[in-house]
Amino acid sequence: MHRVPTREKKTPQPHSSPFYNHLVPAYQALWPAVAKRRITAAIKAMNFPANSKVLEVGVGTGMSLESYPTNISVTGVDLSEAMLAEADQLIDENQWHHINVRPMNAEELTFDDSSFDIVTSFHTISVVSQPQRMMAEIVRVCKPGGRILMINHFRSDNPLIARVVDSAGNITKRLGWRTDIELDEVVRELPLRLDSRYKPNPLSLFTVMEATCKPEQIAAAEPASV
Ligand SMILES: C[S@@+](CC[C@H](N)C(=O)[O-])C[C@H]1O[C@@H](n2cnc3c(N)ncnc32)[C@H](O)[C@@H]1O
Repeated sequence: MHRVPTREKKTPQPHSSPFYNHLVPAYQALWPAVAKRRITAAIKAMNFPANSKVLEVGVGTGMSLESYPTNISVTGVDLSEAMLAEADQLIDENQWHHINVRPMNAEELTFDDSSFDIVTSFHTISVVSQPQRMMAEIVRVCKPGGRILMINHFRSDNPLIARVVDSAGNITKRLGWRTDIELDEVVRELPLRLDSRYKPNPLSLFTVMEATCKPEQIAAAEPASV
C-alpha cells in the first residue's frame, strides 16, 4: 500500500462537513451553473471504456452523475451526509442502477488497493485538510494503468496571477477553499504519470488533469521486446 510521505505539518483532519451540510441550498442554486459544463466536457473527453469501475471522490450533491455513461459502474463518496442525501435522491429519481454513493473520508478511503479503473474528483482537493493524503489515497485505490481525472483550481505557474489569486485566497479560505494548492506538489513522489493538464477555456481559473496510475507496474508486466 502506498502512503504519501506527508509534507504538511497539521495532523489529518477531514474538512468540517457541517459547513457543507449548511451550504446545500445555496450550493444547489449557484454552483451547477458554474461547474457542470466543465465536468461534463471532461468526462466525455476521457471516453470511459464500457464496464469500467469508477470512483468519484467528493461527489457532493451528485451534479456530475448524469454525465457518466450508463455502461460503467460508479461509486461516489463524500464526507457530508446532507450532500449525499441530495445525490441519493437524484439516483433514485433517475433509477441509475449503475451508481451508488456512500459517506467516506477522502483522506482515508476504505477501499482495497487497486480497486478502480478510473478515479475522478472535481473541486474537492482544495477543501480537504490534507490534499497530498487525498491524492495518495486516490492513487492507492486506482489500478495499475488506471486513470485519474481531476478538475480543480491549482496555483498558477504565472507569479503575477498566482499573487492575485493568493490574495483572494484569504477570503475563500473562510469558505473552506484553498487557492494555493500546487499540482506538482500534490503529485510529487506518487506513482502516477501526468498525461495532460489543460484549462477548460483560456480564462478559466480551473485546470483539468488526467493521469495514469502506477505506470511502472504496467511497464514491468509487459514482455520485453526482442
Ligand atoms: C466544492 S464541493 C464539490 C462537490 C462536487 N464534486 C462538485 O463539483 O460539485 C467539495 C465537496 O467535498 C466534500 N468534502 C470535504 N472534505 C471531504 C473529505 N475529507 N472527504 C470527502 N469529501 C469531502 C464536501 O462535503 C463537498 O461535497
